[in-house]
Amino acid sequence: MTAILAIETSCDETAAAVIIDGLTIKSNIVASQIDLHAQFGGVFPELASRAHAESISAVAEQAMTEAELTYADLDAIAVTQGPGLVGSLLVGINFAKGLALATGLPLLGINHLEGHVYSLWLAPDFVEVEFPVLVLIVSGGHSELLIMCAHGLYQRIGGTIDDAAGEAFDKVGRTLGLPFPGGPAIEGAARTGAIEAFDFPRAKTDGAYDLSFSGLKTAVMRAATIKPSGRRRGKLEGRAEKRAPLRDDVNINDVAAAFQNAVTDALVTSACRAARDFQVNAVYLSGGVSANQMLREKLQAKLNLPVCFPPVSLCTDNAAMIGAAAHFRYRAGHRSPLDFEARANWRLSEHVYAN
Ligand code: KG4
Ligand code: ZN
Repeated sequence: MTAILAIETSCDETAAAVIIDGLTIKSNIVASQIDLHAQFGGVFPELASRAHAESISAVAEQAMTEAELTYADLDAIAVTQGPGLVGSLLVGINFAKGLALATGLPLLGINHLEGHVYSLWLAPDFVEVEFPVLVLIVSGGHSELLIMCAHGLYQRIGGTIDDAAGEAFDKVGRTLGLPFPGGPAIEGAARTGAIEAFDFPRAKTDGAYDLSFSGLKTAVMRAATIKPSGRRRGKLEGRAEKRAPLRDDVNINDVAAAFQNAVTDALVTSACRAARDFQVNAVYLSGGVSANQMLREKLQAKLNLPVCFPPVSLCTDNAAMIGAAAHFRYRAGHRSPLDFEARANWRLSEHVYAN
């Protein structure tokens, strides 16, 4: 039996979890900062790192208490090394290094995106499929298409060239005056909207599997808001929230539905093309946007392959997924030196061990 305490502080959730054998969650604590950042309509980095520093020890202690384990029962400590906000990453990394020093336990620096991949292994009904599989990670910071050839071995084949899918949901949510984060708010509004009310663009990119959402974001802005006059535009651009007034004759729910339809179409088109070209045996969907029901349903309908996703509670950031990823690395003999550094822009395809 392998027991790992995992720590995650890459963005706006302070999280700790204890995972047994990469599959069983003994505890999974997430202290969300959503309320703190909601007033800014997005994550405010300085506030995020301060909030992590305030709650990390209590969150880790709670994870150990709920797991009913002592440090002597653990085999390793894992922590998100990147990508993410550097100030936030450092809080978790320094805390984990301190624990590793104090307990003598080995330490593993884990790529946050690999954590999202391994959130699949924590799904109660997950059945491991033979590699290669197509991995689609869609979150607030990333939209990545990768071919997973083995545990720990990834080939990046495409991704967004501008906004991440979740970022597009968050920005459009803000434009429509919906609460942060935009993803769940847009999904909720879209339930009573008409997808055919607007025909938003699906961007074409040079790369066969690349994605682009900035044109779509602009199209939504044009359709839903009143174009500010010259003087007013200057004022709006100088303001932190930069929100143009909404048109009275536009139904927000229709915009939300048509936008969600366009984003999910773009993701599904790239994923289907990649799945066919690389002859994968399954598609693994993960990251915050993988909670989206329309995306799940479209992928399942369009692909004649198993489509797997994590439970909704594990789609957004958490430490259980970091513990699951760490288990497979621990098993392969991976250990990080105590002086490793945060890697704010770390691609998953650089974090390989091929085992
Ligand atoms: O994975 P995550 O917690 O953070 C990053 O690693 O970035 O993803 C957060 C993102 C946010 O942009 C949020 O709006 C989006 O996931 N999200 C959703 C849904 N739930 C969360 N997007 C679409 N539909 C949802 N149901
Ligand atoms: Zn994430």
